[in-house]
Amino acid sequence: MQCHNTKDAYGKMSIALHWLIALLVLGMLAVGYVMEFALPEGSDDIEDVMKFYHVSTGFLVLGLMTFRLIWVHVSGLPDPAPDLEGWEAKVSKAVHWGLYALLIAMPLTGYVMSASGGKEGEPERILPFFTPGVVPNIVGRDHDLHEFMEDVHLYLSFVVLAVVAAHIGAALKHHFVLHDGVLARMIPHLAKKD
Ligand code: HEM
Ligand code: HEM
Repeated sequence: MQCHNTKDAYGKMSIALHWLIALLVLGMLAVGYVMEFALPEGSDDIEDVMKFYHVSTGFLVLGLMTFRLIWVHVSGLPDPAPDLEGWEAKVSKAVHWGLYALLIAMPLTGYVMSASGGKEGEPERILPFFTPGVVPNIVGRDHDLHEFMEDVHLYLSFVVLAVVAAHIGAALKHHFVLHDGVLARMIPHLAKKD
């Protein structure tokens, strides 16, 4: 199997990026919601560790998404799956580009939210990245911006959740109900068995 995409198929690189980023983003959503809504009072230490991994992995997603966009530019995208109706091909394209935009917007809003946060009298925070890196704070403390970005990060995460659920539902419906080759485009192993 080739590394580049062709007119008919995703190549190895796009498939690897799809599954790596999908796993990371599902993990980010889970850790985000646990950190925000499910930790009992007095779990500050655990919350700090989760936040460190959440922020660091978020930057990793941003880096991988940037590379993914470059890869789309270099390698192109396959034509829509031949099994899709005309309207389905349009919706699926819109969903895919919507996901690209969301997966770039999530880390950016997370960055601005974190960078603009902090209390009076405390040093401005340098954002953590997997050891030994730090990411500079180019935003600076701004309470109103921080509050606004907190809302944007939260509500965008609900949109990601809804779109990803619809996306996974559609992929599974194509495979288990319609028995066509759409899922096999992202799991070539399935195609060999047919
Ligand atoms: C794909 C990337 C990301 C996803 C899917 C994601 C998702 C989430 C979710 C679901 C939450 C819990 C709900 C909420 O309070 O908003 C959350 C919280 C949070 N995220 Fe992210 N996030 C991402 C990237 C980032 C990045 C890059 C940063 C920082 C640089 C960040 C910083 C935070 C912080 C600080 C919180 C806690 C908010 C609070 O204390 O109110 N996130 N994230
Ligand atoms: C069980 C989980 C998942 C399944 C079964 C799945 C399945 C698929 C399939 C079959 C395609 C190719 C569709 C086509 O050829 O027209 C695809 C594309 C895509 N998926 Fe997923 N996916 C899953 C999870 C995710 C998640 C969690 C995300 C985002 C966080 C995601 C983002 C995308 C994007 C952006 C594309 C378009 C790829 C491109 O054209 O570059 N997927 N997915």
